Amino acid sequence: MKDVLEKTSAATEEFRAHVLAGLASTPKRISSRYFYDAEGDRLFQQIMASEDYYVTRAENEILRDQTDAVLTALANGHQRFSLFELGAGDGAKTKHLLRRALEMGRDPLYRPIDISENALEQLGTTLKKELPALRYHAEQGEYFEAIERSFTDPSEAKAVLFLGSNIGNLEHERAVELLKGVAQNLGPNDRFLVGFDRKKDPATIRRAYNDSEGHTRDFNLNLLRRINNELGADLDLDHFIHTPVYDPSSGRALSYIVSTRDQQVHVPGSERTFHFKAWEALHTEISQKYDDEMIADLAKRSGLRIADQFTDSKGYFSDVVFAPKETMS
Ligand code: AVJ
Repeated sequence: MKDVLEKTSAATEEFRAHVLAGLASTPKRISSRYFYDAEGDRLFQQIMASEDYYVTRAENEILRDQTDAVLTALANGHQRFSLFELGAGDGAKTKHLLRRALEMGRDPLYRPIDISENALEQLGTTLKKELPALRYHAEQGEYFEAIERSFTDPSEAKAVLFLGSNIGNLEHERAVELLKGVAQNLGPNDRFLVGFDRKKDPATIRRAYNDSEGHTRDFNLNLLRRINNELGADLDLDHFIHTPVYDPSSGRALSYIVSTRDQQVHVPGSERTFHFKAWEALHTEISQKYDDEMIADLAKRSGLRIADQFTDSKGYFSDVVFAPKETMS
């Protein structure tokens, strides 16, 4: 119990430090990784189920229609291996792959990693029920830190999943660092599957980040509620609006929370008063959209090569299987 409390308060203080720094910077920003408290997890589930958010459906189509080909490319001959997953969330897509892997007589050790303790607890419960034969070991944490902690055994056969275009939440340079971090820990036969949301009609993308049921709006504004609830701040939720934009030239979908009037904010832990001018923006999320050149550039700069690629029937989404580049010497 003491451990749990200490961990909770360390996480809260880390969140507080992030928010204080983000509100003090110009332009103001807070990272999307703080979206995922229990309410954020619930709202993200609603986004994934919504008509306008095509991302989950497109990747599901790939994993359902091309399951065996994906598994073959991913396991790459490994019979007993660890299947790591960065940002596992509810694990719905992966459960389907795991079920099929078990049916095919493979013996994966599933190692999901997620920032949300809540998501991992729910995942554990459903796995015990739905796949009781599966070996399973979950870890809570942020990607970079979790990679360092868990990829420690070079003799362990590995496959790594990074689904859902979670990679799109990272700036390009940061994405390169993450891919490199994984690549350096792969053996020659290990594989790394990354899901990329592709560039497409900007109207389709704009709808996905501003769905007609308002789930994405609630999801973004929940970040403010979380700051009030967990940090005791006094953000006035009635005077902020959700404002997503898409820039087709860079492929960046960006989410902002905009203040609709002049207002002051206090966050316990700082003497400072933070000031929002009318129509000032707080940047919360980047959801990068990719084309083949960008994917090739990421691979090249990370020490990876493309071993296989799977795309849905509309060409909306690609699951790319990377292999470590053979190194000379
Ligand atoms: C979970 C990061 C893939 O960027 O599309 C959905 C999160 N944000 N709607 C995305 C999200 C707004 C999502 N990822």
